Amino acid sequence: MTNPFRYGGVVGEEAFCNRKQELADLLRAMENGERLFLYSERRLGKTSLVRLVLSRLPQRDYIPVYVDLWPTDGAESFVAVTAKAITESLATTADRMLQATRDFFSRLTATLTTDSQGNPQIRFELRELEVRLPDLEEVLSAPARIAARRKRRVVVAFDEFQRILEYPNDLVERTLRSLIQDQEDVSYVFLGSRKHLIQRMVLDRSSPLYRAGGHYPLNPISTEDWVPFVRERFERSGKQISDDYVRSICRITEGHPFYTQHLCHSVWELCELGASAGEETIDDAVNLLLERENYAYTTLWESLTRMQRRFLRGLATEADGVQVFSAAFLQRHQLGSASTAQGVVDALLEKDIIDRSDGSFLISDRFYRIWIQQYAALG
Ligand SMILES: Nc1ncnc2c1ncn2[C@@H]1O[C@H](COP(=O)(O)OP(=O)(O)OP(=O)(O)O)[C@@H](O)[C@H]1O
Ligand SMILES: [Mg+2]
Repeated sequence: MTNPFRYGGVVGEEAFCNRKQELADLLRAMENGERLFLYSERRLGKTSLVRLVLSRLPQRDYIPVYVDLWPTDGAESFVAVTAKAITESLATTADRMLQATRDFFSRLTATLTTDSQGNPQIRFELRELEVRLPDLEEVLSAPARIAARRKRRVVVAFDEFQRILEYPNDLVERTLRSLIQDQEDVSYVFLGSRKHLIQRMVLDRSSPLYRAGGHYPLNPISTEDWVPFVRERFERSGKQISDDYVRSICRITEGHPFYTQHLCHSVWELCELGASAGEETIDDAVNLLLERENYAYTTLWESLTRMQRRFLRGLATEADGVQVFSAAFLQRHQLGSASTAQGVVDALLEKDIIDRSDGSFLISDRFYRIWIQQYAALG
C-alpha cells in the first residue's frame, strides 16, 4: 500500500485538499485577463494551485503557459526560459515547435533535441552575447501575438517570480511592465515568496512593477478542510484516525500544507494496517521527523550567530504574534537594542529561516520550531 500523503513536489487533483475559493478566484482572474501577484511563505502550495487551475482551463478557449523562473539569473536566461515555455505550450511535435519558433521568435536561435524518452525538446539562444531590448520585447509580446493569431486567451504564469529582483538590472521588470499593460487577451499570474513580492512590489513605489496588478496572499488550509481529507485517506488505505487527532496534527503544523502532508505521511507510516492512529503515534511521528532532520537542523543552528539563536529561541518558545521589538521581548531574550534585533531579523529573513506574519514573524519550518523548543531551548 503506498502512502497517500505527498510532500515535496507539485500535487495534482488526486492529492489536493480544498482550496475551492482560491481555485475559483484564480480561474476568474484568468478569465478576466487580470494581472495577479500570488504570494505566500515557502511551500504553501502556490505552484500546485496555479498548475491545477491552468490544467483545468478549457483547451478550446485557452493556451496556458507555465514559466518556472527558478533557473534564471538575468535577462538572457529569462528570454531563453520564457520562449521555451511558450513554444512547448503551443506544440508537442518537433515540426510544430519549429513552426511556432519561426512564427513567434524570429530573433532567437532554436535548437531541437530529444530527451531520453524520445520527446522533442527545444532550446533557445540569443544570436548575440547580450540581450537587447528587441529580443525581450519579442518574447514578452509573444503571448499577445499568439492570442490574436490563435483566437484564444493566453494565460501566463511566472513561477519563482522573485528571481527577477535578483537580476543585475531591472530591464526585465521595466519591459514587462510596459508590455503587459495593454495585452487584453493575456492574463498573468506572478508567483513568489511573501517576503520579496510584498516588499518590492507592494510597498516600494520605485519598483517598476509597483501596483502593476492585484495581490493575492495564499494562506494555510483550514483545519476543518484537513479533517475529512486526512480521515478519508487513512480509511481508504485500511487505517483509521479520528477527527480530533487530525486536529492535533493541524495544531502542530498550523495547517501549513507541506508540513501537514509531511506529518500525516509519518503518522500513516507508523500506524499499523487496521489500527487507529492516536496521540502516541503522532508523538512518535514528530520525533521521527525531528530525528531525520536532526543533522540538517544542527548544522543550520551552528551556522547562526549567538544573537540569531537567541532570537529564534524567543520566537520558538513564545506565543504566535509576539512583538519581537518590544522592550519585554528584547530583555527576556537578551537581544540588546531594537536596532540589534532589526539586524537579526533582516539576516534571518534573508536566509528564509523566518517569515513575516501579520505584523510579527514566524519560523518558516514548523518542525524547526519544534526542534528548537526541544533541543535548543535553555532548560
Ligand atoms: N491543496 C493542497 N492540498 C494538499 N497538499 C498540498 C496542497 N498544496 C500544497 N500541498 C503540499 O505542499 C507541498 C508544497 O506545495 P507547492 O510546491 O505547490 O508549494 P509552493 O508554495 O509552490 O512551494 P515553494 O515556495 O517551494 O515554491 C506539496 O508537496 C504538498 O505536500
Ligand atoms: Mg513553488
